[in-house]
Amino acid sequence: MLILGIDTSCDDTSVALLRDEKEILSNVVSSQVDLHAVFGGVVPEIASRKHLEFIDIIAKEALREGKADYRDLDAISVTAGPGLIGSVLIGLCFAKGLACSLQKPLIGVNHIEAHAMSIFLERDVDLPFIALVVSGGHTMIIRLDEPCRYSVLGTTKDDAAGEAFDKIAKYLAIGYPGGRIIEEYSRKGKKDHVMFPRPMMDDNTCDFSFSGLKTAFINYAKHHRIDEKNIADVLASFQEAVIDVLFQKTLRAVKKTGIPRVVVGGGVASNGRLREVFQERGKEGGLAVMFSSPGFCTDNGAMVALLGHYYLRRGIVSPLDAKAFSRMALPGFMKC
Ligand code: KG4
Ligand code: ZN
Repeated sequence: MLILGIDTSCDDTSVALLRDEKEILSNVVSSQVDLHAVFGGVVPEIASRKHLEFIDIIAKEALREGKADYRDLDAISVTAGPGLIGSVLIGLCFAKGLACSLQKPLIGVNHIEAHAMSIFLERDVDLPFIALVVSGGHTMIIRLDEPCRYSVLGTTKDDAAGEAFDKIAKYLAIGYPGGRIIEEYSRKGKKDHVMFPRPMMDDNTCDFSFSGLKTAFINYAKHHRIDEKNIADVLASFQEAVIDVLFQKTLRAVKKTGIPRVVVGGGVASNGRLREVFQERGKEGGLAVMFSSPGFCTDNGAMVALLGHYYLRRGIVSPLDAKAFSRMALPGFMKC
């Protein structure tokens, strides 16, 4: 089974070619980071225009690297949401055109679900497991019973974890995307320099709120001078607060469900300190914590192709008039 996976949900144009479940023949990601960095965040109009410019080139490159031809494809899998609507539409329309001209199935998938399942690209995990998806647009804890069967245990009430990193970096004008830059600064910083709040950490839910933490940071920055002498300490303290909450909430989900296996996905999961904390504290708590390689944590077409593979195996395909969604409930659209 040869599936083309397309993701244009945000600012990466990604196309991958996957044979069956684990043979990634190619995974091409064209990042727009440099274009958006000058604005301190993604500009949706620019993102969709660039997807339009590059999607055809990236798809051809994915096929070339994978030594395949469009005619070899068995199906086309594509992110149908959630994401920036103009960006999602470019990938979806391109996929529809391919599906129509090649007379092959179109499979519209949920981007968050793809992040949660991306671990299977590299290894097997016993089911059920708890998935923490932490990206620029989402922070979610999901119970995964089997591919395509899951329930949401917790979600963010306001900003996503990655969004908090990005907004703080924008506020300090230290670059975009914020997560990676804040991680860099934090390596040399003292984690307990400032005791930032841990919003909602001690309630009984698996939900999150990062907007208050962002405000607490900005208030701190307004009342204290942040310069080259203390920036690493302040950012390390902020990063630690985010990671603390993420771990405690995941632990709560584990306790509530009695499932001691945790998979962490999404762009923020490429953070080295987060991986360290989850591994160390997870071990103390008897949890098995698993991560994808950083390249499969951030947006990629391979995870979309994989999810398409699972959908197709269950006979789920999308009509050629499938819609794009900026928001998409989980579970919901095209649920198996
Ligand atoms: O999954 P992703 O590539 O795209 C979305 O679906 O949003 O995640 C992007 C997010 C951005 O907010 C970015 O700042 C964050 O992931 N991120 C990180 C790191 N690398 C990317 N956050 C913390 N530490 C990192 N190393
Ligand atoms: Zn993503």
